[in-house]
Amino acid sequence: MRTIIRCIATYLPEKVVTNDDLSKVLDTSDEWIYTRTGIESRHIAEEDELASDLGIAASKKLLALSDIDPIDIDAVIVSTTTADRRFPSCACRIQGAIGANRAFAFDINAACAGFIYGLAISDSMIRSMNLKNVLLVTAETLTKFVDWTDRSTCVLFGDGAGALLIQSSSDDESSGIISTKLYSDGSEERHDSILSHRGPQNGYRGYTTMAGRSVFRYAIENMSSSMNEILAENNMTLDDIDWIIPHQANRRILESMCKMRNFPTEKFIITTKDHANTSSSSIPLALDEKLREGKIKAGDTLLFTALGAGLVWGAAIVRL
Ligand code: UT7
Repeated sequence: MRTIIRCIATYLPEKVVTNDDLSKVLDTSDEWIYTRTGIESRHIAEEDELASDLGIAASKKLLALSDIDPIDIDAVIVSTTTADRRFPSCACRIQGAIGANRAFAFDINAACAGFIYGLAISDSMIRSMNLKNVLLVTAETLTKFVDWTDRSTCVLFGDGAGALLIQSSSDDESSGIISTKLYSDGSEERHDSILSHRGPQNGYRGYTTMAGRSVFRYAIENMSSSMNEILAENNMTLDDIDWIIPHQANRRILESMCKMRNFPTEKFIITTKDHANTSSSSIPLALDEKLREGKIKAGDTLLFTALGAGLVWGAAIVRL
C-alpha cells in the first residue's frame, strides 16, 4: 500500500494588488519589491472572505475535478495560521460545507511549513488508522494579519488555498509519498524571528513582525539541510528528483540557496511573482500551476521543502 496524491485544486481570491498599486499608498516601489523578493503581485481576500471560505472554494473545485463522493472522505485536515476563529476549526467548517459527513476534522498550525506537516500527518494517519481518503487543505489569509502601514512586511504576503485528495492505493507501486521529514526549533531567537502578535499575550492587538535578514539565513540553512538529509536517508541524490518545489517566500532566498549549496536552479519551481508568500498554500499553488501548464507530469519525482514561524521546517519526497 502507498499513500498517493490523487488530485489537487487551488483557489486564489479575485482581487489582485500589484507592486505599483502598493507604491501609491506606501513608501515603496515595484523596483524595490521585485528586486528584493521576485514578487510582482498578490491576490488578496475581501474583508468578509475568510480562510475557511478560501478552503471551501478549493475543496469544491477538487470535488468537481475528482470522482470522489464527499461521504467517502475519512478526514479533513486543514493547515492554517490565519483561522477564522480560535475555535471551532476551519476544518470543521469546511467539512460541513462540502458534506464530508463521515469525516473527522481538525486544523494544524505549522506556519509556512504546514503543507509538509499536513502531508506527513495524512500519510501516517492513512497508514496507522487504515483510512482511504484524506482531504488535506491549506487555507491562508495572511494579508488580514499584517500592518498595511509597515512596508517591510505587508508587501511580502498574499492569500490563497489548496486542496489535495490524499489516498491509500495499491494500484501503482511506483507512485506515492516516499518520505517526509519534520523539524522545529523554538529556541528564543528563532521563536521570536517571525511572530503574529494578535492574541491573548498582547491584548488581541498587533500584527506580523519578522526579522527579515535572520529568517533569510535560517531559510537557506534549514531548507538546504532538510533536503540533503531526506535525500541521504532515502539513498537518493538530486539526480533522482525531477522538480524541487520550495516554499515560495522570496525568489532571492531560492536563488541564494542554489548558489551557496550548488543546487540545480533549473529544477527549482519558482512562482513568487504572481502569488507572493501565501504561507502553507504556496507549495500547493506552485504544484497545481505547473501541473496545469504541463511542466510537471504524472510519474515525476518531487522534492518539497519549507520553513516558517516556529521555527518549523521540513521536506518531503513524492512521486506523482
Ligand atoms: O514565510 C516565512 C519566511 N519568510 C521569509 O523567507 C522572508 C525572509 N526575508 C526576506 O525575504 C528579506 O529579508 C526581506 C525581503 C524581508 C527584506 O529584504 P532585505 O534585503 O533584508 O532588506 P532590509 O530589511 O535589510 O531593508 C533594507 C532597506 C531598509 O532601509 P535602510 O534602513 O537601508 O534605509 C528598509 O527600511 O530597505 C527598506 N525597506 C523598503 N524599502 C522600500 C524595507 N521594506 C521596504 C519596502 N520598500 N517595501
